[in-house]
Amino acid sequence: MDETLIKAALAVLDENWTGRFTRPSARLYPHQWSWDSAFIAIGYAHVLPRRAEQELRSLFTGQWRNGLLPHIVFHGPSGNYFPGPEVWAVTCNPNASSHPPTSGIVQPPNHAIAAWHLYQYARDRTQALVFLNELYPRLKAWHDYLYRERDPFHEGLVYIRHPWESGMDNAPLWDQPLSRIAIDGPLPFQRVDKQVVNPADRPTDTDYARYLQLVSLFRTCRYEESRIQERCPFLIQDVLFNTLLCQAERDLAKIARVLGRDPEPHEARAAQTARAINQKLWDEAHGIYVDYDLVAESPIDVHVVAGFVPLFAGIPSSEQARRMCANLNSRSFCRLGDRCYAVPSYDKQAPGFSRRRYWRGPVWINMNWLLYRGLQRYGEQKYAMWVRNAIIDLPRRYGFYEYYDPEAGCGHGADRFSWTAALVLDVLYTCRSETVPPS
Ligand code: SER
Repeated sequence: MDETLIKAALAVLDENWTGRFTRPSARLYPHQWSWDSAFIAIGYAHVLPRRAEQELRSLFTGQWRNGLLPHIVFHGPSGNYFPGPEVWAVTCNPNASSHPPTSGIVQPPNHAIAAWHLYQYARDRTQALVFLNELYPRLKAWHDYLYRERDPFHEGLVYIRHPWESGMDNAPLWDQPLSRIAIDGPLPFQRVDKQVVNPADRPTDTDYARYLQLVSLFRTCRYEESRIQERCPFLIQDVLFNTLLCQAERDLAKIARVLGRDPEPHEARAAQTARAINQKLWDEAHGIYVDYDLVAESPIDVHVVAGFVPLFAGIPSSEQARRMCANLNSRSFCRLGDRCYAVPSYDKQAPGFSRRRYWRGPVWINMNWLLYRGLQRYGEQKYAMWVRNAIIDLPRRYGFYEYYDPEAGCGHGADRFSWTAALVLDVLYTCRSETVPPS
């Protein structure tokens, strides 16, 4: 095992650990982020299992009474982060948590996946069971919220209502839906992120203006889902979000089973979501899954790395998986043996591809981790190793960045980024095979 890389990864996590939770990165993201914490707990599982439990426990202190798990939990003063609790102003809704303050949107539901991972790798199974018992009702309330409030047609597919809910803030997926939001005049607020990292790595001011307009709409609707649903110009059934929900429900069923509870309702919901993803989001012509825009009532014909993530939850048939692998292994993403790092977050041949701008092209380690496990699930060993190589090699050569240039390899966005460190740890501890540097 690569002891030097393990030490370096742990040093990043120690730096970002506050005693209660782990900041994604000290300067750019100084609070607790929802899906970051689940990925971080997955890495801690092997080395610091009590800290992993604390990470998830802290996050759930921000859960709302209706089960909503907010995307940011502000454990201390908002400090140098925008938009802070005063912009979210969530306490107009009686379900919201005021202590600690939170945002009013969610992020992809990977938490039950992390909780099950903790149990699987636990050396002390008795303690792990105690923790699962504590977390189960909160995880259940979180998933119940999503299926109850975000699935208006009872399809088994939940919607997101803000690009930040996808975790892939400025992905080209959102360009068309966001264009429905008119903006006029200069930005009425000061962005902090552009002072912390290179503005060329971040979403544009126009993107930000639209993000903030959506937040303003949610405030006006007092975060009541039925009002938001009527008025929101951005309602998307997202592949990544629903895939993670499907796998999280499967893992919640396993958790229910070891706790002696009923796994069946979770298995039934997972099966319905898997079926719906295949029926509604599969793009037969291109061999990839695509999002669905509920406002325009049409698929979003944009191909991003998240379109391959259903492999992680075992959703595609073996024939669909074969076609997806051929698509991954092409000039659009990264061909085996080419001088590129797998896997760019956006089709390299598509208009607007960028090697450095956030979700418009760079390689993200969390997406690689999901794909790596998905490809292994389907026995696609060669491409799985190609993806694993990027997970290990990029941080080793360039440091623990938020994302990486798929050609040059250099890092962009925040440095000393927690989930990159955590997922490298997980890969090093769970799979021992050698890496192959790109040619
Ligand atoms: N990821 C977004 C940010 O940059 C929203 O959480 O702050």
